[in-house]
Amino acid sequence: MGAVSKWTSLILILQAFLALPSSSKPEELAHIPVNFLNFAKRPEVFDWMVGIRRKIHENPELGFEEFETSKLIRAELDRMGIFYKYPFAETGIVGYVGTGSPPFVAIRADMDALAMQELVEWEHKSKVPGKMHACGHDAHVSMLLGAAKILQEHRYELQGTVVLVFQPAEEGGGGAKKMIDNGALEHVEAIFGLHVSAAHPIGAVASRSGPLLAASGMFEAVISGKGGHAAIPHHTIDPILAASSAIISLQHLISREADPLDSQVVTVATFEGGGALNVIPDSVSIGGTFRAFSKESFIQLEYRIEEVITKQASVQRCNATVTFNANDQKPFYPVTLNDKDLHEHFQKVARHMLGDHNVLEMQPSMGAEDFSFYAEVIPGYFFYIGMKNETKGKFKRGHSPYFMVNEDALPYGAALHASLVTKYLLENKPKPNLPKAVSFRDEL
Ligand SMILES: *[C@@H]1O[C@H](CO)[C@@H](O)[C@H](O)[C@H]1NC(C)=O
Ligand SMILES: *[C@@H]1O[C@H](CO)[C@@H](O)[C@H](O)[C@H]1NC(C)=O
Ligand SMILES: [Zn+2]
Ligand SMILES: [Zn+2]
Repeated sequence: MGAVSKWTSLILILQAFLALPSSSKPEELAHIPVNFLNFAKRPEVFDWMVGIRRKIHENPELGFEEFETSKLIRAELDRMGIFYKYPFAETGIVGYVGTGSPPFVAIRADMDALAMQELVEWEHKSKVPGKMHACGHDAHVSMLLGAAKILQEHRYELQGTVVLVFQPAEEGGGGAKKMIDNGALEHVEAIFGLHVSAAHPIGAVASRSGPLLAASGMFEAVISGKGGHAAIPHHTIDPILAASSAIISLQHLISREADPLDSQVVTVATFEGGGALNVIPDSVSIGGTFRAFSKESFIQLEYRIEEVITKQASVQRCNATVTFNANDQKPFYPVTLNDKDLHEHFQKVARHMLGDHNVLEMQPSMGAEDFSFYAEVIPGYFFYIGMKNETKGKFKRGHSPYFMVNEDALPYGAALHASLVTKYLLENKPKPNLPKAVSFRDEL
């Protein structure tokens, strides 16, 4: 950020410090969510959000490489006069709106794209072959900037500080963990995150209290034997058969060892080996993912996956080595756990904005989100925001090469983010015995 804009931000922050506490009446406070939604739907705000989303969509960047996306975000924050710190976790940004004093409450967006080819033909199709925003993170960035605009516009009404977290590498890289390690959650007492959903109608949101998404790990194994002529198997040690036995036995971890009421998954998703129809190969690689909703079950699966593969390989006279993604600086994702009090807060705010019938209860899913790292450290809340609108056609689910964002969802995301934190600050005034020194003003 340039020196000039830094000073502009500082002045704006100091102005915010001098602002008198809001004297809004209770009935005005109840209207915050609706007012914010109307603000976000204004043509100039909506078009600006759509423009940002399309620009990011055209230039997708993979985890920890979101350099241009990050630059675009910082340019918009500069333009709005919002103070931020950069970098966190290579490309991450943390912005601040409000008084600069406690309480601090955060809202988060992920910035990374997927390594896949977009197959949708449209004006703003990905310009980078083999990379695509197929999970809607382009929309998430746009929504968080939309929230930043709403909050900055209403900064004198904020009774504390909103922390804007733009993080890299949600898709497997564990960007959230790096953000935390770099201090992104300093002073922050609660955090909200959202994801677009093609499974829920536009204007609706869905989530639940407690566990929402599973813990997730990946494994790979190399099973080595001794290759040779396929017609003379007794001169070989066949790794294909050993890998097959291992895969069958892995299925028994869920069907025979796991509590049927404790949801878990083990999937072998890759099997690579051999090249000729009459040759037994030297080795075979297999790999896959495992999911669970409790830490104990997850650790038990990790332990047993390694044991089953190595022991089944040895039954067939092969050797096996098993590696987990956590050894590869890609952390296991913990369970995404939604805080009970934040769930109540969310329901209240979302009902005010969208009406009772548009606030849906969700079943847990075996999918995973690195938002879970935040929710492991402080109370967190993750929710889905609907995109489905049948009159606009069918919207494909995330990670499809035909995935499309319904841009009509952008104002809902922006307004929900902004309302959740504004109301949170109003309802969680700082405790009087808290040390006054806790303020990012001191760090400037
Ligand atoms: C397995 O490992 C042992 C010990 O390193 C080695 O002696 C043996 O030849 C290996 N077997 C295969 C099939 O690679
Ligand atoms: C659904 O799409 C139609 C057609 O574009 C549009 O007129 C309508 O407003 C959309 N509904 C919502 C709730 O956005
Ligand atoms: Zn994804
Ligand atoms: Zn995603």
